[in-house]
Amino acid sequence: MDILDVIKSRRNIKKFKSDSVQLDLIYSWLEAAKMAPNHRMTEPWEVYFVGPETRAKLKHKTDFGNVPLLIAVLSKHGSTAIEKEENALATACFIQNFNLAAWAEGVGTFWSSIGITAKNREILSVPDDYNLVGVLGIGYPEMIPDPKPRTSIKNKIKNLP
Ligand SMILES: Cc1cc2nc3c(=O)[nH]c(=O)nc-3n(C[C@H](O)[C@H](O)[C@H](O)COP(=O)(O)O)c2cc1C
Repeated sequence: MDILDVIKSRRNIKKFKSDSVQLDLIYSWLEAAKMAPNHRMTEPWEVYFVGPETRAKLKHKTDFGNVPLLIAVLSKHGSTAIEKEENALATACFIQNFNLAAWAEGVGTFWSSIGITAKNREILSVPDDYNLVGVLGIGYPEMIPDPKPRTSIKNKIKNLP
């Protein structure tokens, strides 16, 4: 797939096959993810692999669609309010790089914000000086949903004088 096909065909996956994805593949996508833009080279992201004990404590109505692997992606705050915001944005770029790299090789992900609650932050051992930008499920899709309708980009463009 070329890059536009990867971007356009990616979906947030909610039902997975039980097969695990090889760890070396996941590492190769994390290596690609770390090439994300980040201001002043703060490289604010950290990745926690969520083991079964921790996962069992997280509340989720669908058991994450039977996904074989969960990771939590954190972003270090930095020393100013601006850095905190920019670091979280950089970490979102990191996540999307990861998602697209995985999708290009037939592996689906979901991005969940379940981790933002105080309880789930505690379960995931997120330090106070970190944002939890997303909890990602990673696996081979059982079902790929249709694209969701999106507003024409023309409606989102403003030409300034
Ligand atoms: C920051 C962020 C948080 C998200 N949190 C959730 C979530 O908690 N639950 C969920 O079902 N989807 C979540 N999503 C995924 C969106 O729901 C999904 O991307 C959107 O519905 C569009 O679907 P698509 O990605 O398949 O095109 C999140 C996406 C982002 C960027």
